[in-house]
Amino acid sequence: MPYKFQLNGKQVTLDVPAEMPLLWALRDELNLCGTKFGCGAGLCGACTVHQDGVPIRACVTPVSMVAGKRVTTIEGLSADGAHALQRAWVEMDVPQCGYCQAGQIMTAAALLAKKPKPTDADIDEAMNGNLCRCATYLRIRKAIHRAAELTK
Ligand code: FES
Ligand code: FES
Repeated sequence: MPYKFQLNGKQVTLDVPAEMPLLWALRDELNLCGTKFGCGAGLCGACTVHQDGVPIRACVTPVSMVAGKRVTTIEGLSADGAHALQRAWVEMDVPQCGYCQAGQIMTAAALLAKKPKPTDADIDEAMNGNLCRCATYLRIRKAIHRAAELTK
């Protein structure tokens, strides 16, 4: 049965199996490849997107679960890459290989939406489930603080 949801501000309809992971739907059906496959088991955060503003793991979320919801991916975070986090990420030169970074930014965006001036402890707690094999954690934390300043 077709599933309808809002994706990055536009209505989409997908006629796919109910159990298809949202990550597959985004990448293979909708050609949005910014969201990455890491573990496929909800453990690494590489596939993080927002459902109604809340970070979720797209690899373990069936398409049927987002029917009628609002989904935002890294491609929809801002129209022109000018979200404060994206600017701070560039300024702080955060990524190394880059693989985990879309998920990191989406988790950070949900944190800043909830807590515009997070402490180190807030950041560590919120970002805890987003792994980075390149260990860019300190730059990520600095960039989140910088994004908070940029959104003053
Ligand atoms: S790929 Fe989804 S949490 Fe790792
Ligand atoms: S930048 Fe390489 S995994 Fe995070």
